[in-house]
Formats: sequence, structure tokens, C-alpha cells
Amino acid sequence: MDFRERVQELRGLLLQYQQSYYRTGRAVISDREYDALFDELVKIENLHPELKTDDSPTQRVGSDLSSDFPEAEHTIPVLSLDKAYTSQEILNFVRRTKKSCDEDNLSFVLEEKIDGFSIVLYYRNGVLERAVTRGNGHVGNDVTANVKTIRTVPLRLNSPETLAVRGEVFLHKKDFERINATLAEPYANPRNLAAGTIRRIKSSETARVPLSIFVYEGFWEEPAAFTDHIQILSRLAQLGFCVDSHFSYFCKTAKEARRRLDDAGLDGRACSFEDLDGELKSRAETRSSLPYEIDGLVVKVNELSQRDVLGYTEHHPRWATAYKFEAPQAETVVEDIDVQVGRTGRITPMARIRETQLSGSVIKNITLHNQDYVNGLELAKGDTVAISKRGDVIPAVESVTEKNTDGNTTWQMPSVCPVCGSYIEKRGAHHFCTNFNCPAQVTGRIEFFCAKKQMDIEGLGPNTVALLYEKGYVTDIQDIYTFDFKNLLRDGVEGFGEKKIQLIEKGIAESKKQSFRRVLVSLGIPEFGKKAVDLVTDAGFRTMDSILELVNDRENAVTRLSEIDGIGPVTAAEIADGFRDAGTVRLISDLKLLGLCMEESQQENYGSENGIFAGQSWCITGTFENFQPRDRAMEEIVKRGGKEVTSVSSKTTCLLAGSNAGSKLAKAQSLGVKIVTESEFLDILKENESSAGDTEKDSVYNSEPQQGLLDLL
Ligand code: IVH
Repeated sequence: MDFRERVQELRGLLLQYQQSYYRTGRAVISDREYDALFDELVKIENLHPELKTDDSPTQRVGSDLSSDFPEAEHTIPVLSLDKAYTSQEILNFVRRTKKSCDEDNLSFVLEEKIDGFSIVLYYRNGVLERAVTRGNGHVGNDVTANVKTIRTVPLRLNSPETLAVRGEVFLHKKDFERINATLAEPYANPRNLAAGTIRRIKSSETARVPLSIFVYEGFWEEPAAFTDHIQILSRLAQLGFCVDSHFSYFCKTAKEARRRLDDAGLDGRACSFEDLDGELKSRAETRSSLPYEIDGLVVKVNELSQRDVLGYTEHHPRWATAYKFEAPQAETVVEDIDVQVGRTGRITPMARIRETQLSGSVIKNITLHNQDYVNGLELAKGDTVAISKRGDVIPAVESVTEKNTDGNTTWQMPSVCPVCGSYIEKRGAHHFCTNFNCPAQVTGRIEFFCAKKQMDIEGLGPNTVALLYEKGYVTDIQDIYTFDFKNLLRDGVEGFGEKKIQLIEKGIAESKKQSFRRVLVSLGIPEFGKKAVDLVTDAGFRTMDSILELVNDRENAVTRLSEIDGIGPVTAAEIADGFRDAGTVRLISDLKLLGLCMEESQQENYGSENGIFAGQSWCITGTFENFQPRDRAMEEIVKRGGKEVTSVSSKTTCLLAGSNAGSKLAKAQSLGVKIVTESEFLDILKENESSAGDTEKDSVYNSEPQQGLLDLL
């Protein structure tokens, strides 16, 4: 047999095994046998590249080459569905439709609304030519290389037809959970992970995620002989597509529906019109037992002639409606998308939305995180979006519910920093302004330094910092300590009276007393926030000099830092590089001269490894009179060897509860976790303090807490 014939044979066999696997869920041959055939095909194709074809199963493994996603025009209108949130609205839709159609020649299909990523597949003479995202309905992105890696997308159909097919790419729940558990930045739901995967730059990465597809509409180039939707579904299945079999078909009688489904060779539930309400309810109830996510149901007119009669609005077919299980928390319009440049240069896209009330607060701005997040949503200016409050705090754009009518395509990151005009660089998932002296970065660093959680300088909030920078008074962190704020009075700067200046001066003087750990955090070194600072100081690096000495030898520093429990090699490298940065070295040396705290006194840490809270996990909730912000209370715990945990579990030693404590308090009570009030906490600290410095008593504390403390802990 010559190679050409063998290639044909191998492709035929592999296709047959794949299709039967996806139809029946059972493998006809073992993985090893399958792989052997596959490897043989790869070998022959490599030896004879002229035999390689776009539809070969070898094309599914993806490539390591970077691909961007050029825009591609749709040749079919990619419309979305009108939606309803109650079964009554769906019943009304059906009633209305019956009235405007020929009732004797009318039936309905109820399909699952797959919660995935919408895609259009274009086939020419039976070969997959292009896969295009929905985009704005007219223009989408060409993601063919990635879609080809999806095993249930046929690369060649069982008949050489030219058509466009609409479908939904999705991820099974169990695969989502398995994959998400391994990700540093987990996705909120399978839809977002599927959307992110479809837009991976390297298709070999997409190939690693077991995406699936269900198709639900077909558009043939030649007017086809079909008269209704179930015939189309049946034909799509014959061509080799996966069609969701969990649908219901409604005719005047269930018997009639059964007969027609059998004629079409389709599964699906045969129902009468009267069954519609029951079907809507039962499918909504059994939703959670499905292996994939659905966010609703879709009711569609079956007869194509009736669809023509009903027609279309600008966005929606009048012959179909989605029944969404959950109403969005709020819907609003994205009026603009711009970017914020942070202190590290990270550029974050922001949606400026039409003001909306959500869970008691007014929302105007929502972070869009990065370009990948925007791409996953295919979000453009002018789109209508569903928004929610994640974890009841941070507002998030969940999905696009209506595309804009202005032709705006998916928002793109600018090519230069909008603040300073410097080159923008992509690192990981984020884009960064590359200019360390970019005004946005400088003011960001000054703001961060002065903020409550860091040096806590009263009177130097973001607006004041921006003004001082703009006027050239304070152009770097060090200037805070050298600038004579009385100049503001002299220059008659609006808003700076004597009182305000005194307040700032007092705040600056007091900041010099802030702890060494706070000074470390205030430097703003990436990955060196409060938690990492605590770990590093607790590991024995209690002076600035010891840290600077350590990072002198980068390699050794990375090794030593990664040995600290809780610090990985990436964080270790960031910390080492941060301290080696020339700007940071200068800043540290200036701050030292200016009298800021450059080491941790014995008094200060109360011997954290032997401290009264050593080995304990503390969680904090509510508000406090004596600790504002409440991180201050946590600092006292950490100083004495305690560890901060952000949620209560049976392993938590104590919950420090201030006033207005909420769910954490209830959880601690239900788990029997010790609850410590603010006044009890103050007592513990007072007792501990009176003994600190007194070496003899200290040793008593360290080995065995006193009776009073034992009662509380
Ligand atoms: S029909 C003109 N059927 O839901 C036909 N859509 O806005 C419109 N979807 O963009 C689509 N499952 O991505 C249809 N069984 C289904 C669907 C479905 C999921 C998605 C699709 C569409 C959105 C509705």
C-alpha cells in the first residue's frame, strides 16, 4: 500500500473511532492502539508534507506558534435571542406566535441554552475553513487554529457541503473543576474558562483543555431542501456534528411529535403543546444534574416557512426566545472603556458604565482586569452588559447581553501609555507601561506610600498627592519629608490653610514612628505586601541592612527567600529584583537618612516565634474603636507570633470580633471557635506588654501563658 492510501485509511479509522467515542461515550479501541495509529499518521505526514491536509486529525494537536486573531467578517447575520425570565413570559410568547402564524402548520422546539462561548463554523465543500467568534454580530475574530483542537468539531464533514453552523463551545463541569484547581488565577465559571481557552495565543495550550461543542443552527449556501428545524438538527448530526439530544419537541399531540422525531431519526422528548409549562419547570429543576452548565432554555419555532413570516428585529429573530433561569443583578450600558495606570505600571482597562444601583450602592466604574478578560467577553464600547457584585463587594461585568449598534468591535489596549506615551509591554496576562518615571506610576507610588495601610499619613490622600505632583512640589516619595508644606500657604494654593498644613506635618512626623514592617511594605516592591513582609521578617531578616546584604547575590537571595515557607520562587525573584532596583536602593538610603525605621526592635516583635500567639491562627471581623484600620489589631497578633487567616474554619484558634461582625462571627459560633472581643484583646495585649522587656517574666510567657491568658485562649 502506498503512503497516500495508508494516510487515507488512517484518517478514516481515526475519525471513525473518534466519532463513535463521542456518540456512545465508549472507546472502540484502547488509547494505546489509537495513539499508535495517530503517531503513524504524524510520521507519514512529516515524511510527506504534501500529504498534509487541513482536515487531518493531526491538525487537532495545536501549534506552539503565536497566532493573533485577525478580524473576520460573518457571512451570516449572527443574531442574539430576545429573553424572558419567567415561564409565563414563554407561554405568552408561544400564544402570541400561534396567533400570528398558521396554527395547523406550527410546532416548537425547546433546547437547552448552553452556557458557553458562541462560535460560527464555516465549511466549504465539507472542510472546516474558518471558525469565527460572535464579535459584534458582523465581524468576529478568526480563532480557527484553536477551534480545530476541539475533538468534537468535525474537520471534514461526511458530505462535501458548504454551510455555516452556529454552536456553543463549552467545558464539562468536572473538567472545569479539575483544571481550575491547578490555576494560579482560577476562573469564576466554566464559561469564562472556555472563553479564555479559545483565545489562547498558542493552540497547543487550547488543545490541553478538553473543550466540547454543541451545534444548534445550520445555514446552507445552496437553498437546502429542509422545511424545518428538526430536519436541520438531524442533518447536522448526520454530517458529524454533536447535537444536544436533551430537547423537547411540541406538536398538537405527543404522538404526532414522536412520529416526526422518529422520521428525523432524532432522540428528544415528544410533547404536546399542553406539556410546555411542565417541560420548562422540569428542565429548570434538573439543570444541576447535567454534566455541563446551561443558563436557560431556548424555545424556537420549528417550521422555516413560519420563521420567515415572523421575521427579525434588528437584533433578534421573532421566532425564538431565551428563557433565562436567573435575571441579571443589573443591566447597564458601557459608555466608555479606558485604562488606569497603576504604581507598578500595570495598565487596567476600566468600564465606565451608565450609573447603576446594585445591592445598595451606586456603580459607575468596573474593572475589566486585562485584555484577556475583555476578549473573553468580546466587550465593546456601547454594549449592554449584565453586572453583579462578586462576593457581594467587587462589581464585575458578567456577560454582554446586547451588542452595540454602532459597529464597535472588541476593545483593544492602546499601543502606548495614555499618560506618558511610552511603549507598552505585555507580561503574562497584563500590559505594563515601561516608563518608571511615568507620572501615573510616580503618583501611584507616592499615594501607596502615604495610604492608611502603609505609612498612614493623614492629609496626603490621592487628590492631594496628585495636586502636589502636578505643581511640582512633591515629585518623589522622599520629597514628602523634605518639602516645606508651609510653601503651600505662601503660594496661596487653594484648599491649604494653616490647619490643613499642620495636620499634614503632624502626619508626616508621626509616620517616622511607623514600624519596620510597615516601611518595608511602603516601598511598594511587587509581591512584597504585608504577608510576604511578615514571612521574611519572621524568618530572621529584621534589619534593612540584612535584606540589602542578602540581595547583593541575587541567586543566593532567591534560594534563601524561596526556602521560607509560603514564599515561592517567583515571589522570591520579584523581591530580590525589587530590592536590587536602583530607584528602590536610593529610596531606602534616603529614608534611612530621613529617620525612618530601618530595623525591628526586640520590643516591637515581642519575640514572634516565641510570642504569646505563636502557633495560633487568628481571623478578624467587624470594626474596632482602638484599631483603625483593623489591620492594626492584626499587626499586634502577628508581632506576637500569630498567623492571619482570612476565613474561619475549625482550625482557627480565635476570631477577633469587633462591632457589626457578620457571617464570620456566626461561623465561629457554629464551629465553636474561641471569640475574643476588642476589650478582651486589649487586656491580653496589656498583660503581655507589661511583661515585655522584663526578661524573667518574658520567659514565663514564652514557655507557658499565665492563667488569665489561658482562660481567654
Ligand atoms: S439560537 C438566531 N440556541 O445563546 C439564533 N442559541 O443570545 C440564535 N445559545 O448567542 C441562537 N444555546 O451563543 C441558540 N440552543 C441554543 C443555544 C444558544 C446557547 C447562545 C448563543 C446565542 C445566545 C443567545
